[in-house]
Amino acid sequence: MRMGEILKFPPGFLWGSATSAYQVEGGIENSDWSKGYRAGLACDHYNRYEEDFDLLQKLNQNGYRFSIEWSRVEPESGLFDEQELEHYRRILFSLRRRNIQTFVTLHHFTSPDWFAKAGGWTNAKAPYYFSRFAERLLEEYKGLVDFWITINEPMIYAAKGYLDGTWLTRKKNPILFLKVLHNQTLAHKKIYELFHKKAEVRVGIAKNNQFFESYNRKSFLDRAVVKLADYFMNRWFLNRIAGHLDFIGFNYYFYQKIAFPRGTRNENKKISDIGWEVYPEGIYHVLSGLKKYQKTVYVTENGVADNRDLLRRDFIRGHLYWIHKAIQGGVDVRGYLHWSLIDNFEWEKGFEPRFGLVEVDYKALERKIRPSAYYYSEICRNNGFEH
Ligand code: FCB
Repeated sequence: MRMGEILKFPPGFLWGSATSAYQVEGGIENSDWSKGYRAGLACDHYNRYEEDFDLLQKLNQNGYRFSIEWSRVEPESGLFDEQELEHYRRILFSLRRRNIQTFVTLHHFTSPDWFAKAGGWTNAKAPYYFSRFAERLLEEYKGLVDFWITINEPMIYAAKGYLDGTWLTRKKNPILFLKVLHNQTLAHKKIYELFHKKAEVRVGIAKNNQFFESYNRKSFLDRAVVKLADYFMNRWFLNRIAGHLDFIGFNYYFYQKIAFPRGTRNENKKISDIGWEVYPEGIYHVLSGLKKYQKTVYVTENGVADNRDLLRRDFIRGHLYWIHKAIQGGVDVRGYLHWSLIDNFEWEKGFEPRFGLVEVDYKALERKIRPSAYYYSEICRNNGFEH
């Protein structure tokens, strides 16, 4: 790698950041997460979105991903709340006024209470319920949304909720795990078809893909497990919906060095505040693995828990370097959305991890731009950077 090299991204590349409703909005009391893992007021983004979108603008971003909270919009089965629909319309208009392209996620881990009580995604009627909600949003916001993302990280959602018992449902049941995934593939396809019948739209997914590598390249078993993990984590879901995707949204956080039979054996030379290894090169390999789908790709999440902002600048630079390499290698990447615009509620880990380009003081609810965010904003402005 030569120093001083200018890395330019393709014209029209989208530069931005991402959030999800439950993690930032505050005041969501009617979802399955609301009781088990309370987010309370969170960042009060629900009331402060104008201020937060000013930050997007100030930081030269032209893309933004957020989710619409299903439990707000449809608090009871089949009953839609006009005021909440209006709220999200205001959000979309506010972003449009700022010339920011929108990626709207329909399911980002949270579901309404009524849906969860009816078995959630394990229920065979889940695709019907979810597509009914999606259809209503399409009717409301057609023309205001640039990219629709049906489901965030189906594999992670199903694994944490139904396989390893970490999340809410506390289930460790492989049958339910597969049921959830199956219903999510059906729901995705149903929505894709429905949306395309009714409008000019772009519909995709946000898929968490990971880079698996064998600890010992000479070990047949290490290599076999890598193949299996790659197939199941990265491809299984995508293969099922590949004919129903206008683009692939891809979230990158994890690098796993597999040592059989021990599991993972990462060297962890550089880790984030929550122990995740920082390994920018991995994004190149995972992106290259997406090439066979021959789709446009958007990096819909990538970020680091780094309270003191010691890693974020290099983290961004490193990942962008490898994304640029993947583009040169023929992967059609057209945007990068950093996780996250602001610090937020990190699911079962609470408010400790700090993923924001912008720091949030949860008492005063004040926002403070981190130095790395200014660095990123220059990249956004120049559509590239000097490496
Ligand atoms: C992803 C989630 C996102 C956030 C980041 C850190 O798996 O989609 O909501 O929690 O991890």
